[in-house]
Parts: sequence; structure tokens; C-alpha cells
Amino acid sequence: MFSRESVRALHGVDLTIGRGEIVALVGESGSGKSTLARCVARLERPSSGEILLDGVDVLKRDRFQASRAFRSQLQMVFQDPFGSLNPAHRVEHFLRRSLVIHRKGGSSETETQQRLEELMTTVACRPTC
Ligand SMILES: Nc1ncnc2c1ncn2[C@@H]1O[C@H](COP(=O)(O)OP(=O)(O)OP(=O)(O)O)[C@@H](O)[C@H]1O
Ligand SMILES: [Mg+2]
Repeated sequence: MFSRESVRALHGVDLTIGRGEIVALVGESGSGKSTLARCVARLERPSSGEILLDGVDVLKRDRFQASRAFRSQLQMVFQDPFGSLNPAHRVEHFLRRSLVIHRKGGSSETETQQRLEELMTTVACRPTC
């Protein structure tokens, strides 16, 4: 528990993902898939290397500023939804919150509601979800 021993979770990873491209990372348990995703999402800081998003090394971006701008560009979908999303809230609550935080829902409540409905229609979800 108090050991400071380090674990080499990743070594020599090099991959490029193009715009609109979908990539599946496959490997045995403990091979570092989650660690790589956590590094890309800036939840973990790699000891070396670079992670470029649109040509900018995200590890060198200002930490606070990068946070909101970066999160609006790249999001992690965690494996366990019950550990990530409060089941007491409806889907609408989480979508609305993201739109407000990232200011993507327009300036008025009507625009936000409209954007919400568009998003829900895109994924064939009823507004009562
Ligand atoms: N918080 C942590 N502290 C110490 N070691 C860790 C931590 N998280 C991951 N590791 C170690 O890093 C290595 C890679 O783990 P990781 O969880 O990235 O693998 P994975 O490919 O996602 O595995 P799985 O398929 O089981 O989800 C493993 O050796 C793991 O034990
Ligand atoms: Mg994993």
C-alpha cells in the first residue's frame, strides 16, 4: 500500500488516429489499454513522449486552460456507467450540464432545449430518457 515502486504500464506506443476514424485497441488484461486512454484524456501524465491533438501537444498546454477547452474536444466514456453517472438523474440532466459548461447550447433556454432535442433525436432517445 505504501510502496513507491513504479509500474511501467506503457512503453513505445505510437499511433495516429485520423479525423472521423474509429480505432479499437485490443490487448490482454493489464497490457495498458486503459492507461493509454487515460493519458490521451489527460487523466494520467506520461513520463515522456507527446500527445498531439490537431498538431498541438496537449501535455504542454496550460493545465487549467486546457482543461475546459480540451474536455470539449475529447471525452472519455468510462467502462462502468454506474460509477460515472448518478442514476438519480435523467440523461437530459447530463446533456444539459455539458451544453451549459461548454457553452454549446446557445444563449437562451429555448436554444439549449432545441439542441438537447436534436442530440436525443440523433441517438433515437425519447426526451423522457
Ligand atoms: N493506479 C495504478 N497503480 C498501479 N499500477 C497500475 C494502476 N493502473 C494500472 N496499473 C498497472 O498498469 C498496467 C496496465 O494496466 P491497464 O489498466 O492500463 O491495463 P488494461 O489493458 O486496461 O487491462 P484490462 O483489459 O484488464 O482493463 C498493469 O500492469 C496494471 O497493473
Ligand atoms: Mg482497462
